[in-house]
Amino acid sequence: MSVLNITFCCTNTAPEPWLAGLHTTLPHAEVAVWQPGAAPADYAVVWQPPQQFFDEQPQLKGIFNIGAGVDALLKLRLPPQVVVVRLEDAGMAVQMAEYVCQAVIRHFRDLEAYAADIRAGHWTYHAPRQRSDFAVGVMGLGVLGARVAQALAHFEFPVNGWSRTPKALAGVRGFSGAAQLDDFLASSRVLVNLLPLTPDTTNILNRERLSRLQPGGYVINVARGAHLVDDDLLALLDNGHLAGATLDVFRTEPLPSGHPFWRHPKITLTPHTSARTLRETSIAQIVAKLMALQRGESVAGLVDVGRGY
Ligand code: NAP
Ligand code: GLV
Repeated sequence: MSVLNITFCCTNTAPEPWLAGLHTTLPHAEVAVWQPGAAPADYAVVWQPPQQFFDEQPQLKGIFNIGAGVDALLKLRLPPQVVVVRLEDAGMAVQMAEYVCQAVIRHFRDLEAYAADIRAGHWTYHAPRQRSDFAVGVMGLGVLGARVAQALAHFEFPVNGWSRTPKALAGVRGFSGAAQLDDFLASSRVLVNLLPLTPDTTNILNRERLSRLQPGGYVINVARGAHLVDDDLLALLDNGHLAGATLDVFRTEPLPSGHPFWRHPKITLTPHTSARTLRETSIAQIVAKLMALQRGESVAGLVDVGRGY
């Protein structure tokens, strides 16, 4: 039997621990960092590879993306026969649930204002808010969005969810498709974005849509920067329709110095860290799926390239 060849091409990722982990889990495979002119491989493990990588590896059987989102990958010309597999959860869902719940709770409980009071040496009480006035709408009810929606429901927030196809999740009022987007937004005060970035969802968080949120709305974007029209968010924060935003993702990353988001008093920023790829869990998932593909079995988490996610 011929030796299985795996090539690794991940931007901004130290390759050594990944190679060591893949080698330990698949001791009979050849695993190497891709270099221009490298020998043809059977499978690739990638994150934001260059077009040259696929141009030189047209024989690939499968591509494993070491993230949940495949928007950067799908901008490239891929070999037509190749199977694209993304990470499904792999430890990211619980991270996303804790990040989003802390952002919602920080806003709902006025913790930013309490922190400012304490810094100023003031022992002050703010009036408690009604949970029923803080309906949270989760856009995208996939692997991450469903986990986030259920975690929010656990804290007894009213939770709405929006997906392309109808979903039934306990404790979540479901909306689906373009026809129900306006009703979903009008039913929500806090908006959490967990959509994949596709031609249908690019710029979806624009002035018209964000204006439909209930007054005093709050935006949490943890999906991709290009979902959000930056100037539209700033305009709605400045005219008071929106009370604030927590942003983890940006059109350009790192966020350019001088961008108005850096210093806006109503915006909380983090550097694309809401749900990180966990190496060991991810390697275990990738290897299990690679072996299943080798046996001719079907695997979950296949990307529909035409659909964009
Ligand atoms: P997923 O399982 O593929 O779920 C995507 C969800 O979005 C599905 O519910 C899908 O609807 C819905 N959707 C797609 N297109 C839609 C449309 N046009 N209208 C309405 N709903 C639509 O993806 P996931 O694993 O949850 O990940 C979601 C995204 O999170 C990733 O694509 C990535 O961009 C982002 N992410 C960010 C971080 C971070 O650290 N900030 C980490 C990981 C992932 P159906 O259920 O009907 O298909
Ligand atoms: C991170 O943003 C991912 O898509 O996994």
